[in-house]
Amino acid sequence: MTTGSAPASDRIAEAMTALPRALFLRRADRRNAGHDGPLPIGHGQTNSQPLTVERMLRLLDVAPGQRVLDVGAGSGWTTALLAHLVGPTGQVLGVEIEPSLVEFGAKNLARTGQPWARLEPARSGVLGDPDSAPWDRILVSAAPRVLPAELVAQLGDTGVLVIPVAAVMLRVVNPGAVVTEHGHYRFVPLRCQVP
Ligand SMILES: C[S@@+](CC[C@H](N)C(=O)[O-])C[C@H]1O[C@@H](n2cnc3c(N)ncnc32)[C@H](O)[C@@H]1O
Repeated sequence: MTTGSAPASDRIAEAMTALPRALFLRRADRRNAGHDGPLPIGHGQTNSQPLTVERMLRLLDVAPGQRVLDVGAGSGWTTALLAHLVGPTGQVLGVEIEPSLVEFGAKNLARTGQPWARLEPARSGVLGDPDSAPWDRILVSAAPRVLPAELVAQLGDTGVLVIPVAAVMLRVVNPGAVVTEHGHYRFVPLRCQVP
């Protein structure tokens, strides 16, 4: 899984260095940014474990210029990392269901100076953003019990979806929506309704 001239893993390491996790944490939690575990961002939600984020980005295999959907944008960290990976010729949309986290994440994202990425509120009962589909890549950072058909339907012809389903990390690849499993992870639940 490589993209462009540098191996995907190098591009991901570069992105994580350029966009330190501390920028996406509440002030009081920043001193814990180096902890390789999830950290609270309020409202019972978390900024994901860095190693997990890195592994998910590797599975996603993002290339410059792609259109990427980030479901469960939370602190804005993954949205910003994806924006770095697609570069100015790409496009990233982060959607977040918790209203007060939308503001937190959008402010964090704006500070990174990547106007080709935006973070918006999720709509009640609507998973992802079907109106703007198809997406080249979809990253989901909250876990449903079963693979949501409506997200698979938002993937482009050669799209890739990375999503934790019932604690198992799945990679879904088009054509054919071929599913492979990539280990066990714990995530907050994917919700359907805006609280
Ligand atoms: C692990 S947390 C945040 C991870 C985030 N990518 C980050 O970098 O901070 C997952 C987020 O998914 C959100 N979420 C849950 N269900 C959602 C849905 N259907 N649409 C959008 N966001 C959702 C939660 O509110 C939570 O903020």
